[in-house]
Amino acid sequence: MRSTVLRSAPFPQRAFFFAHNPTLLMLHIFPDAAAIAEHVSTTLIEKISIKPEIVLGLATGGTMEPIYARFVEKALRRRLDVSALTSFNLDEYVGLSAGHPKSYCAYMRQHLFQHLDFDASRLYLPDGLAHDLDRHSQEYSTKMQQCGGIDLQLLGVGANGHIGFNEPGTPFDSCCHVVQLSDRTRMDNSRFFEGNAIVPASAITMGMSEIMRAREILLVATGEGKAEIMAEWYASEVTEAIPFTVLKRHARVKILLDEAAASLLPGSLRESLMVAAA
Ligand code: GLP
Repeated sequence: MRSTVLRSAPFPQRAFFFAHNPTLLMLHIFPDAAAIAEHVSTTLIEKISIKPEIVLGLATGGTMEPIYARFVEKALRRRLDVSALTSFNLDEYVGLSAGHPKSYCAYMRQHLFQHLDFDASRLYLPDGLAHDLDRHSQEYSTKMQQCGGIDLQLLGVGANGHIGFNEPGTPFDSCCHVVQLSDRTRMDNSRFFEGNAIVPASAITMGMSEIMRAREILLVATGEGKAEIMAEWYASEVTEAIPFTVLKRHARVKILLDEAAASLLPGSLRESLMVAAA
């Protein structure tokens, strides 16, 4: 198994260069998705060991699958106690029950929850079948606050720059809410709905303001399908048209890319941000 080390204990001139462009401090480029899974799973294990009652913000999607798989492997091997942690998932499809095989609740069970000794009463996801969705969204926000807010938020990113299901144009001050999914997002996510199943038209998502209130954020983007949006993110001002540009305003965020997702960033930049495989 390859381990990864940061090549960067930076040279003085690089430290100077980076300090004058804080956006660069956020970006880290790894050889591949496996190297990112290694890094993120180690981070999770360290954080949970230091603070067993940590509040995690959890994401779904193909990007997170290798991360959860590696985390489960290592947590089992180390007999990590996860029973005191609390988690809040970013989002859930409206109209899918927790038992529906395509719900994010089922995704979380399959990839993470069923493998370790979590306390099920501390694992929160929005309820896609809530009778009053607006009220449920408010209650989800309130619950997050009552639990002290998110310590560490994991994020993937949609090809249009959405985080959670906050589609382009979502106000940065939004709280947990119901969203109509864009055609692009429904098309991208249709790969998880094989057969005749139709991607739901709406979802409940944590809002932009709640994501930004997380004390620390790790956003992961892997594969060439994310290369264009990453190049746009890099070149763009902070704008609601590209939701995850707001992360440029967060004090403790890391954006972890594999080489494919970083492939459209300027060449010299890629070189300087590379995390070496050891
Ligand atoms: C979905 C989720 C997002 C996720 C995004 C990217 O839309 N709501 O939280 O970040 O997909 O998914 P993937 O990792 O499959 O590319």
